[in-house]
Amino acid sequence: MEPVSVLFVCLGNICRSPMAEGVFQHFTKPKNGPHHPLIARIDSCGTGAYHVGDAPDSRTMSTLEDNGITTYKHKARKFQINDFTTFDYIMAMDEDNLDHLVRLRKRALKQNNTQDQELGRVMLFGDFGGKEGEEVMDPYYGARDGFEIAYEQMVRFTNGFLGILEEQAAATGQQPNGEKSGL
Ligand code: 4NP
Repeated sequence: MEPVSVLFVCLGNICRSPMAEGVFQHFTKPKNGPHHPLIARIDSCGTGAYHVGDAPDSRTMSTLEDNGITTYKHKARKFQINDFTTFDYIMAMDEDNLDHLVRLRKRALKQNNTQDQELGRVMLFGDFGGKEGEEVMDPYYGARDGFEIAYEQMVRFTNGFLGILEEQAAATGQQPNGEKSGL
């Protein structure tokens, strides 16, 4: 089974998607440990350009640090159409990001006369947490506890997603992004 590439997407790429990336990276590519064999590239970005070039919000970084994730670094960037060909899984944090990405994907399929399976799949990351349709609320304008809630969600969604990938890898002849998969 080929390793898969995963892109996390929110609006600004300074609060939620870097938190998701930091958690996912910590669990799959720890600095001092073996890397997860099913995970290739990991990145995050925003559907908006408000914070391009900025470091993650200090509350995202301190929440990660409080949970032992101290090596994560990122600079915000905006989603690009070629992300659909670079990444197998494009994980939206909320329904607005999801709708935006679904629209961009439809346009990319039409304009480039591309087959559906040639582009990465757009999904709600929260669908892997055990409750379908669970969104990560934007914590930017709120208090610090919004970041702690988001952290707990990222851990739960990461475990759920990795569990499904591992089940697929264990199933004979199934590819992580193949037609027969549950994803
Ligand atoms: P994020 O949060 O999408 O989780 O990075 C936001 C950060 C900044 C803004 C919006 C959302 N903003 O409008 O500046």
